Amino acid sequence: MPVPIVAGNWKMHTSVTEGLRLALELVEGLDGVSGVEKVICPPFVSLEAVAGVLRGTSVKLGAQNMHHEVQGAYTGEVAPGMLAGLCEYVLLGHSERRSHFAETDEAVNLKVKAAFRAGLCPIVCVGETLEQRESGKAAEVVAGQVRGALRGLHNIMDLVIAYEPVWAIGTGVAATPETASEVMGGVILPTLQEMYTRDPAAQVRLLYGGSVSPGNVESFARLESVHGALVGGASLRPDQFVEIARIVVGAKSGG
Ligand code: 13P
Repeated sequence: MPVPIVAGNWKMHTSVTEGLRLALELVEGLDGVSGVEKVICPPFVSLEAVAGVLRGTSVKLGAQNMHHEVQGAYTGEVAPGMLAGLCEYVLLGHSERRSHFAETDEAVNLKVKAAFRAGLCPIVCVGETLEQRESGKAAEVVAGQVRGALRGLHNIMDLVIAYEPVWAIGTGVAATPETASEVMGGVILPTLQEMYTRDPAAQVRLLYGGSVSPGNVESFARLESVHGALVGGASLRPDQFVEIARIVVGAKSGG
């Protein structure tokens, strides 16, 4: 049974000062919660300061994006190696990057490979839009994103995939556990099984994301195909994020 994981995506929120304060509050609550991996993903400018706060604690650091090249003339971009000494995780292919920054499956694939080369654990985000769901294409879209992100990768050890239906992100309307299970257990897992001979269920952790809150996280964490949550808004609220981590531990340990 893989170790469950809760990851907080701060998105484009918090100044460095605010980020430091938030990290301190989060660590205070999270450090005592065991049986789950806890990851926070602040904006790039806060990574170093937050890394200082997390040093010596059980809370891990992730970035929200990166470029796939080792270095070069890519103004405004951040290379994998720049993150490697600082972070253990990196979010890749978030739907906001796909929709606002035209990130394609090909781009996500290059980034996933670059993350592995740099020793970072990718948290690959996939998920369908409302239009795709309503036209009956959710399964096809998500399977395509998984295949696209992992194309050419023969080793998928230490990989996290977050299913975040676009229509559930930041809306307060989470997917139902049935929908999450249909996609995660019924589409993502079989897609991985089709691609890899070694049982991916033992190596890949699947997270649900999209309006996760202390009130609904248990219903997701109880699903066999779910190993935790990727949290947006509630990860900026220390009380809520700590509670989410505790609930995931309880649900995953059968409590
Ligand atoms: P919310 O939890 O705010 O819906 O955001 C989800 C998300 O996009 C995390 O990556």
